[in-house]
Amino acid sequence: MTETGLQSETLDLDPPAVAPANEAGRDLMSKFDGLIAERKALIDTGVTDPFAIVMDEVRSPTEAVIKGRETILLGTYNYMGMTFDPDVIAAGHAALDDYGSGTNGSRMLNGTFRDHMEVEQALRDFYGVSGAIVFSTGYMANLGMISTLVGKGEYVILDADSHASIYDGCKQGVAEIVRFRHNSVEDLDKRLGRLPKEAGKLVVLEGVYSMLGDIAPLKEMVAVAKKHGAMVLSDEAHSMGFYGPNGRGVYEAEGLEDEVDFVVGTFSKSVGTVGGFCISNHPKFEAIRLACRAYIFTASLPPSVVATAAASIRKLMTATEKRERLWANARQLHGGLKAQGFRLGTENCDSAIVAVILDDQEQAVAMWQGLLDAGVYVNMARPPATPAGTFLLRCSLCAEHRPEQIATVLERFEAAGRAFGAIA
Ligand SMILES: Cc1ncc(COP(=O)(O)O)c(C=O)c1O
Repeated sequence: MTETGLQSETLDLDPPAVAPANEAGRDLMSKFDGLIAERKALIDTGVTDPFAIVMDEVRSPTEAVIKGRETILLGTYNYMGMTFDPDVIAAGHAALDDYGSGTNGSRMLNGTFRDHMEVEQALRDFYGVSGAIVFSTGYMANLGMISTLVGKGEYVILDADSHASIYDGCKQGVAEIVRFRHNSVEDLDKRLGRLPKEAGKLVVLEGVYSMLGDIAPLKEMVAVAKKHGAMVLSDEAHSMGFYGPNGRGVYEAEGLEDEVDFVVGTFSKSVGTVGGFCISNHPKFEAIRLACRAYIFTASLPPSVVATAAASIRKLMTATEKRERLWANARQLHGGLKAQGFRLGTENCDSAIVAVILDDQEQAVAMWQGLLDAGVYVNMARPPATPAGTFLLRCSLCAEHRPEQIATVLERFEAAGRAFGAIA
């Protein structure tokens, strides 16, 4: 599940105050009783489990068969629709035939094949930088980069709504952790001002925040970070491919390529496969390979995966038409839902994520189920994963959605919204 770090911060998994009597000792699994009961209560209401959906068939980036029903996919983060691109698929087939199904090893030892080098070159070309390091997932890229960059006596400063992988990267490391209010330039400034001047500092930001689809005021935040002598890492997972003149992300759109020190990204969204990476122009960047545990102590991605990623990234460099279609689709959905009277996560169409805010869990689940029954899949998100205790239906657009599919989605949203009291 793709969630903000709020979940890992607030989920209470402490053992119950009174441990269950058991001669064999405390059952460590009893800490999950609350979660199990909550899940059961939800399923007992007769709804499909929103967190256990199975795609029986996937027909295209925008269509699947779920529970025997043809369904429009509107919650996949497959922004650029690369998963069925014939060139990408052919690259994967060829690598599977030529190099086998896996590498069996760490990048440091026997796990670097030709296409690991090729995908890192594709990233350097895409971002116009001197350094690129690929990790096995985006989660591991954040985990590894943050925990390696900031050490003892140094500070990592993160937005309260950061993704779980950013929180976990902070926890994995030994630096002091400082949180600031979501997207508050003022709070960031205040908190940085309290830290020792001479200490190393890393400010971690996201170009697009995945729950509400809102963007960071990166220009102001980066200026504040630099004023206090901090380095900046921007996670551009939800902007790659379609934000900025070359699709590099919000930091590119804001003209911050010389100011942002590290950019983390993922292959699991616009690139259409799996994997993560960090890029940088820092002259010592390669040293990360020698020090980063999340890079060293795990097997590298299979050759077919890095070959598909390399092919996809190279195609994204010239995907102008797809970018335009994605933005047109996002505007169509955002504008349509707004006109229908839904409360949305952002006033304007800021990204390819459109979050519909609902009153409570009952309404969110009913709407989610109503849409699924009508053949539309969206993500359901609820506290503690969501900011400010909100219940959301999160939609993400794809360049391959056809305008008529979005029109259908809008009709179904309107019907469900009226049926369950989300709109008048
Ligand atoms: C902002 C952000 N960073 C990192 C990740 C992790 O990416 P991956 O799916 O490659 O592990 C995600 C994924 O959901 C994300 O939303």
